[in-house]
Amino acid sequence: MTLLDVSGLSVRAADGRPLVADLSFSVAGGERLGVIGESGSGKSLTTLAVLGLLPAGMTVTGSVVLAGTEIVGAPEKRLTAVRGRDAAVVFQEPLTALDPLMRVGRQIAGPLARRTGWKGSRLRRATFDALAQVRLPEPERIASAFPHEISGGQRQRVALAAALACEPALLIADEPTTALDVSVQAEMLDLIDTLVREREMAVLFVSHDLAVVAKVTDRVLVMKDGRAVEEGGVQDIVGAPREQYTRDLVASARTLESALDLRSTQ
Ligand SMILES: Nc1ncnc2c1ncn2[C@@H]1O[C@H](COP(=O)(O)OP(=O)(O)O)[C@@H](O)[C@H]1O
Ligand SMILES: [Mg+2]
Repeated sequence: MTLLDVSGLSVRAADGRPLVADLSFSVAGGERLGVIGESGSGKSLTTLAVLGLLPAGMTVTGSVVLAGTEIVGAPEKRLTAVRGRDAAVVFQEPLTALDPLMRVGRQIAGPLARRTGWKGSRLRRATFDALAQVRLPEPERIASAFPHEISGGQRQRVALAAALACEPALLIADEPTTALDVSVQAEMLDLIDTLVREREMAVLFVSHDLAVVAKVTDRVLVMKDGRAVEEGGVQDIVGAPREQYTRDLVASARTLESALDLRSTQ
């Protein structure tokens, strides 16, 4: 069943400049789609359009249907209902998603409580479990910390835990490892990969690095200047890219072989 259906999506800047042009793709339930392209190719705007989060002043046309709801032109109330329940997002910079003035535990407990109705000690235990699931050590200590009191890698795990707490059908991840130290990037990627497979969640995974996308997804959409250049299975795109642009992306993905090795051992 189609979970996300993007059809003829176009986004224009306030000055009329086309930023995303006639983009179409779909994601089935449980499917993992990667979006790859050089910086400025329109990947982030596409993910924002899916959640109805485009900056004010931009004009959007076409259609984005998420779990049966048309997102383009939807009133804020309908968008609020969809976010979290049908799709949740992890951004490149975890501080965008986290409230700097709220302890980490409350930021997980909030969405958990909304979904489950749990309170008190049951909610507290579930919050610690959610933090442990993203492999955070000492979940009780992390829960009582403010975002600035933990490391960037730990913050990104918290953002992932908050997204997963809603049990969304679709996880959107926009360059979730790009801002992290190289030493923790692979671990974070492995964590996302493991958790979405366990939960059979659909994923829309955005990166400028094909090696990263190849680790987590099965199918890849290649974007350039706001348009789809080509689309296909990860192995086909890597093994036989049709476009020169895609060939360049393959060539610049230095860790591609090791990423594909990792996949084949699973
Ligand atoms: N708020 C904005 N106002 C005007 N142009 C923007 C805005 N945000 C992004 N853009 C432009 O839209 C294009 C696509 O941006 P983006 O989706 O962020 O690219 P990517 O995520 O692939 O790097 C870029 O040319 C960028 O400069
Ligand atoms: Mg981006």
